[in-house]
Amino acid sequence: MLFDFLVPQRIIFGPGTTGRLGEEAGRLGRKLLLVTGRRALEASGMLDRILNPLSAAQLEVTIFNEVAPEPTLEVVEAGLEKARRANVDLIIGVGGGSVLDVAKAVAGLYPAGGPAKEYFEGRPVEKQGIPWLAVPTTAGSGSEATRNAVLIDPDTSRKQSIRSDYWIAAAAIVDPVLTMSMPPSLTAITGMDALTHALEAYTSRWSHPLTSALALEAAVLLCRNLYAAYSRGSNREAREKVALGSLLAGIALNNARLGAVHGLAHPVGARYHIQHGLVCAILLPYVMEYNLVFVEEKFAAIARALKIVPPETSSNVAARRLLSFVLRLRERLNIPAKLKDVGLRPDDLSFLAEAALPSGSLAANPRAAGFSDLMELLQANL
Ligand SMILES: [Fe+2]
Repeated sequence: MLFDFLVPQRIIFGPGTTGRLGEEAGRLGRKLLLVTGRRALEASGMLDRILNPLSAAQLEVTIFNEVAPEPTLEVVEAGLEKARRANVDLIIGVGGGSVLDVAKAVAGLYPAGGPAKEYFEGRPVEKQGIPWLAVPTTAGSGSEATRNAVLIDPDTSRKQSIRSDYWIAAAAIVDPVLTMSMPPSLTAITGMDALTHALEAYTSRWSHPLTSALALEAAVLLCRNLYAAYSRGSNREAREKVALGSLLAGIALNNARLGAVHGLAHPVGARYHIQHGLVCAILLPYVMEYNLVFVEEKFAAIARALKIVPPETSSNVAARRLLSFVLRLRERLNIPAKLKDVGLRPDDLSFLAEAALPSGSLAANPRAAGFSDLMELLQANL
């Protein structure tokens, strides 16, 4: 057995841990760029919760609040310019996956030189960036634990990752209280993204004992608590468990990679401008069905851990029971059943399947999937 395992230097988890932001940031730098979304943070009243500990620690804060969902290379360039002008020594990202990915890319490329596009197109990242600290406000992307930033090239609409082991966060503060203001629809799609991470990492060709332990626990936490967090956003216990599930799934995916859902999700999301979590939520059961006979034992292990089947149930039946559970969960979260419902058009299928083929996530899928297999998966979504 051979494996590699990379995690943030420090992970601080729990309700109220945002209060430790000043102390943690002060350990890493003095002048920081706070990367956040356009309005979400102020609108949800969280800005003070973030700024107060930073000012109490007497840190110099420059705010960059221009990150929109599904960020482009241009946003990273704008963040880099602002960071360089303010001569910062630390980046803090407070937001969902898009914000954290931009914060990560800005920190990683800060000393690198050259346009972000060169790195997007494959130039290796050869230098350590400046430290960055992740504060997720959604429970789904897992970006606080990963070394990749998913970005879109506005010239080609191509969506892919820049990744580097240097880009792992110096610290992640995961405070479930910050996720409590998410509306139900965002809770649903970010949570289903996290569940997809857990299931794909668990069944990936590169899974190993450390990632499997985390992914299994993440899958159980998310399956048991996502609907409760969705149906009553003030349910603190459910929010905490979903946030924990998302974090564990993020660590697992960072070390085991993903699968065909994520292989297809990037071209589909970029083509129709659909939120990543929504694409994943729709595609997940299709890919589970496609993979089922190859990962029967693994799906069955999750079903048994969830106690949705009696212990003596055969693996085939238990694995199918997990698939029904996920289908039912998706329905209860009011997520559409087909990509057609969010814009998939028949004449785009071959373009999308072709665009998914080079994906590293697809390469990790437990069952090989070529062009015709991807076409079938997409065809079933019409
Ligand atoms: Fe994802």
